[in-house]
Amino acid sequence: MRRLYRPAFTIDLPIFGRLVVISDPNDIRQLFKTAPHIADTTDTNLGRVMGPNSMFALSGEAHRAQRKLLTPSFNGRRLAAYEAIVERAAVDEFATWAENQTFATLPSMMRITLNVILRAVFGVEGQELERLREILPPGIRLGSKLALIPVPQWDWGRWSPWGRFFQYRREYDAVVVQLIDKALADPGLVERDDVLALMLRSRYEDGSSMTRAEIADELITMLAAGHETTATTLVWAVERLQRHPQLLDRLVTDLANGSEELLNATVFEILRTRPVIDTTFRQVTAPALQIGPWTMPKGQTIVASIGLLHADESVFHDAHRFDPDRFMARRPDPAEWIPYGGGVRRCIGAAFASMEIRVVLRTLLRDYVISPSKARDEGWQSRGVALAPSRGALVRVRRRSSLGAGDFP
Ligand code: HEM
Repeated sequence: MRRLYRPAFTIDLPIFGRLVVISDPNDIRQLFKTAPHIADTTDTNLGRVMGPNSMFALSGEAHRAQRKLLTPSFNGRRLAAYEAIVERAAVDEFATWAENQTFATLPSMMRITLNVILRAVFGVEGQELERLREILPPGIRLGSKLALIPVPQWDWGRWSPWGRFFQYRREYDAVVVQLIDKALADPGLVERDDVLALMLRSRYEDGSSMTRAEIADELITMLAAGHETTATTLVWAVERLQRHPQLLDRLVTDLANGSEELLNATVFEILRTRPVIDTTFRQVTAPALQIGPWTMPKGQTIVASIGLLHADESVFHDAHRFDPDRFMARRPDPAEWIPYGGGVRRCIGAAFASMEIRVVLRTLLRDYVISPSKARDEGWQSRGVALAPSRGALVRVRRRSSLGAGDFP
């Protein structure tokens, strides 16, 4: 469509209806800068799945107030506190890997990012941790599929997909009530760094605190938005690195010398070439919205195509080449590099996710040798919310500690 119609075109999709797709950096920048009373989030099922207080469901002032409250949890000093949690989750998971056997990395990366979110965001350990580990992955898997289809007008009963989903949700809500009660009774609550503790300590501008329902909806939102997206990006990282052995060698040398410059550039390039969320949506709420030469009517859904922008040859030289060096001399331009979206709805967990990807990769490269692969690039596979490598990034590894002198991976 883009080749035929240039950077903006209209498509008709079942369920979603008529969509205007834009991919020119100036148009996307303009859309992201548009105030929420002119264009805001679309009325997606994502909000319905995660609850009415989820950031995905909120709009306007309620959305602004919620973001203001939660943004400090994901910035600066706090992120440094989460690095140790990430490294521990990675070390524990990698310890289960078998050497010299080909396996898919997706399940491992999913476990790492789940454990990180449960510890850093939910602040959970022990019995509740086990319970959430059991119910959340299947619940979220089902929810992310349901998020894409309309809610039925009638009740299909407890064995229907929605019935099963609401059963998971009830079990989840019960665990969150226990977690909140435990946290409120915790004398160390003021020193805790996890997002749940920060939510309990935070106050809105009018002095009120978050309700239990708000906390439950936001915690599941963070999990649903941050678990699979980060895991699939890590899986793409493995898929890319094993196909670029020279880069692998350079990364290992750089990290051994205490530099993370190439690692950061590599993370930027993975997110550019393999954006696991490749579109983001806005809906016109004012009578009309002008983007570039087009006037869009009220109600029109506009899709900012992250994938098309990142693959645009006029924006990125040799756009289809995986080349982290393009980000060595300069950081990505926020108008052109948008894996986390933009504007007032830009991913709130962006810095957290980038930190997590960096720490997991650093740990992996420190402790393991990844065997280079000449296999064809893996294709894209939709997992409901995120786009993952079709074979889950098949890989062979050896522990560095088990390599003898003269051994080659
Ligand atoms: C590589 C990992 C991630 C990617 C690629 C990603 C990508 C995105 C994108 C594209 C959006 C939509 C932005 C827009 O519409 O402009 C978004 C929103 C969001 N993300 Fe992420 N995300 C990631 C990780 C995370 C993490 C770790 C968290 C939380 C712990 C998180 C929480 C959220 C939330 C709450 C929103 C909704 C923001 C709002 O509507 O105001 N994400 N993310």
